[in-house]
Amino acid sequence: MPDSTTAPPTSASSPAGAPSGTAPVEPVAFPQDRTCPYHPPTGYDPLRTARPLTRVTLYDGRPVWMVTGHTAARALLADPRLSTDRTREGFPMTTPRFAAVRDRTTALLGVDDPQHRTQRRMLVPSFTLKRAVALRPDIQRIVDGLLDRMTDRGAPADLVPAFALPVPSMVICALLGVPYADHEFFEAQSRTLLRGPTAADTQAAREHLEAYLGDLIDRKQNGESGDGVLDELVRNQLRAGELDRKELIGLALILLVAGHETTANMISLGTFTLLQHPDRLAELRADPALWPAAVEELMRMLSIADGLLRVATEDIEVDGTVIRAGEGVLVSTSVVNRDETVYEDPDSLDFHRPARHHLAFGFGIHQCLGQNLARTELEIALSTLFRRLPALRLAAEPETIPFKPGDTIQGMLELPVTW
Ligand code: HEM
Repeated sequence: MPDSTTAPPTSASSPAGAPSGTAPVEPVAFPQDRTCPYHPPTGYDPLRTARPLTRVTLYDGRPVWMVTGHTAARALLADPRLSTDRTREGFPMTTPRFAAVRDRTTALLGVDDPQHRTQRRMLVPSFTLKRAVALRPDIQRIVDGLLDRMTDRGAPADLVPAFALPVPSMVICALLGVPYADHEFFEAQSRTLLRGPTAADTQAAREHLEAYLGDLIDRKQNGESGDGVLDELVRNQLRAGELDRKELIGLALILLVAGHETTANMISLGTFTLLQHPDRLAELRADPALWPAAVEELMRMLSIADGLLRVATEDIEVDGTVIRAGEGVLVSTSVVNRDETVYEDPDSLDFHRPARHHLAFGFGIHQCLGQNLARTELEIALSTLFRRLPALRLAAEPETIPFKPGDTIQGMLELPVTW
């Protein structure tokens, strides 16, 4: 279906929230649930022929632009005329619970330059490739310890609580200086923050996490100092007045939540996907040097953070189509990462393709801060899991295993396995 939404550039804004141009033949709803957990929802199929830009409808009936072309997505994610400030009029709210917290500023991901640059600069040294490489022995120890415990308890096991969730949770706790003893609390609150179900639940979860992190930061400021990233921020930026307490709590919150939930989903869904592709798994067993490429290709194929949200602050022309100031824009990573003009046979899992320039970690100034860490964790977790448990297999029929709904980060809700 060719995109017919072309309009000449103009400086006049259309009514708030109503993108210019003609409506698509059939409005497609966003987000939708996946039918297979490692493929985009089949309901997005019509969008895959509407590149690079089309329109979708949100839960409240509002139309927004969806970026579906790879080149356009990179250009737009790097364009300073798109804002991530969710308090701006026209920012696309994809769920009622997300809309309920729109008045709260989200550190880093929800701020534009120059404030964003200031916040990000404080954190970059802690998330370099060099730092991720230095963490490899610690990550390996965590992974081995969890697999020892899981195998001691014996098969079967639910891989989500036994392995996929605790790996990144333990790693981010050690890195930030958050006590892992509190993991049940912050994991549950993070889950509620991201999945609700109600707006009140989401709001309460955010408040609980802020109160918990505020208390932790106060304790660090009052002498309980360690060598985590939060300790460094207290010592170097909070005391010097470069950060205030509220801003530091906001940074701690995004680091803690993004630092465990996303990677946990990649481990569970990555394992499920590999088990459903025995030939690819055999390839990895024959040549373990393929693991870094496999992680990259899984990132592309699974695109678990699907729907990067922006609002235009000025008119922007994309291939003759005009996004007007005040209109919402979302980049569907699952659709963009299967752009057939960039990836040959995009629906197949292929460790030999150049997958590195996928957009599963985003692009531009908000590109994932934790990507070096995430890649390292995924490579160690998945390669060790399949090396140590060569007979690993699903302990239930694949179609009966529940996975996450489309309105949150994608992943498995459970993963019953045996070995
Ligand atoms: C495989 C796991 C992960 C995936 C798929 C992922 C995905 C993403 C994506 C797509 C963005 C950009 C969002 C946007 O532009 O709207 C992002 C940003 C971010 N991610 Fe990740 N992420 C992962 C792991 C991590 C980890 C381990 C951390 C550790 C702290 C982390 C921290 C962040 C932060 C702080 C941002 C905001 C950066 C900014 O605004 O400057 N992520 N992530």
